[in-house]
Amino acid sequence: MWALSTFRRETLTVERGEKLVAGAAREAGIPIIASVGALTMDPEAWLPACLAVQAAGARLVQLDLFYLPQPRCSPDNVRKLLDLIGFLADRLDIPVAPKLNIDLPAHYAAEILAGAPAAAIFAIDSVRVPVPIDLTTGMTSRFIHAPNAGDCSLFGEWQKPLSLQYAKILAERVPQALCIGGGLMTGIDAIEAIALGATTVQFATAVIRGGFTKIRSIISEMTHYLDSHGHSGISEVRGLALERFVVDERRILFRDVRAAVDHTICTMCGRCTNQTFCSGIKVVMERVEVLNTCDGCGMCIAACPTKPVKSLSLVPAVRRQEGERNSATESRE
Ligand SMILES: Cc1cc2nc3c(=O)[nH]c(=O)nc-3n(C[C@H](O)[C@H](O)[C@H](O)COP(=O)(O)O)c2cc1C
Ligand code: SF4
Ligand code: SF4
Repeated sequence: MWALSTFRRETLTVERGEKLVAGAAREAGIPIIASVGALTMDPEAWLPACLAVQAAGARLVQLDLFYLPQPRCSPDNVRKLLDLIGFLADRLDIPVAPKLNIDLPAHYAAEILAGAPAAAIFAIDSVRVPVPIDLTTGMTSRFIHAPNAGDCSLFGEWQKPLSLQYAKILAERVPQALCIGGGLMTGIDAIEAIALGATTVQFATAVIRGGFTKIRSIISEMTHYLDSHGHSGISEVRGLALERFVVDERRILFRDVRAAVDHTICTMCGRCTNQTFCSGIKVVMERVEVLNTCDGCGMCIAACPTKPVKSLSLVPAVRRQEGERNSATESRE
């Protein structure tokens, strides 16, 4: 999902933001997080808005870095970011937390923020990309209302794997609470992020598209998941997937598995054998066969369309003589 993200459309004046925070703090009965942004990294430019939302009842200030100068990962800008966090943490009574985007890669963000006086880390923000181009009409922007626009914001579903990457990497490396969002669309997505170490989750596109009632369905999907899996609360799920990962990367990289075909399910659609990447899977005597050169990467399995069960799976490799078959049906026999 794309949108032009103009400063005026996405931001409020301090006075309007203050009123909104005060109203929400009064009416909603939940802790209010205020998102504060500025166009410069000068801490003095951030302080008045942070103090204003604090006075209005916000319980945490999230620092929106979206409009800051690039490159945000340059040593100079990283130092300024850490100075900004330190400056605001010293002067506010409520905690501060930066909102990351992919301009600070997850491992790097973990390294620089682990010791920072931030109470939490939010990840990830929408990503600045070139506007979609209309190739038929002189290569201008496809936004007819803004033909000269150069960049736009990309957000929504596609971000989920990246957001989960930040969840996992940060959860394993930083002490701060993590608010993970970006591409989360359902309660099940939220459970996944929490299982990968998120403390809380954030939804933007899902609620922008589905309206505020979407929040109810997200909560009910989460509740249903917890009940049906015998969990008494969300804290039981937090980080659960991290514990179950094999920590030793070498065991993942060099584990001895290979693909196997279940010929009773295979429709001979050809998606696995048509891949240009792999010579380890071929049609031999009118059947799909996995050869000894299979490394168990799983690409053919991802391509296999049979449902509900894929006709390809990974099995422990039993290295056979070249030409011998390795099929799931056979290994069950
Ligand atoms: C219209 C709009 C306004 C946004 N305003 C803010 C903001 O003020 N502060 C912020 O941290 N993120 C802001 N975001 C980014 C979202 O919080 C979120 O990080 C991003 O959209 C990815 O999540 P999603 O896939 O759930 O939309 C905004 C996003 C949209 C679409
Ligand atoms: S698992 Fe990977 S290496 Fe093995 S056959 Fe499939 S695509 Fe090829
Ligand atoms: S992708 Fe799956 S169904 Fe299609 S030929 Fe390969 S194993 Fe058979």
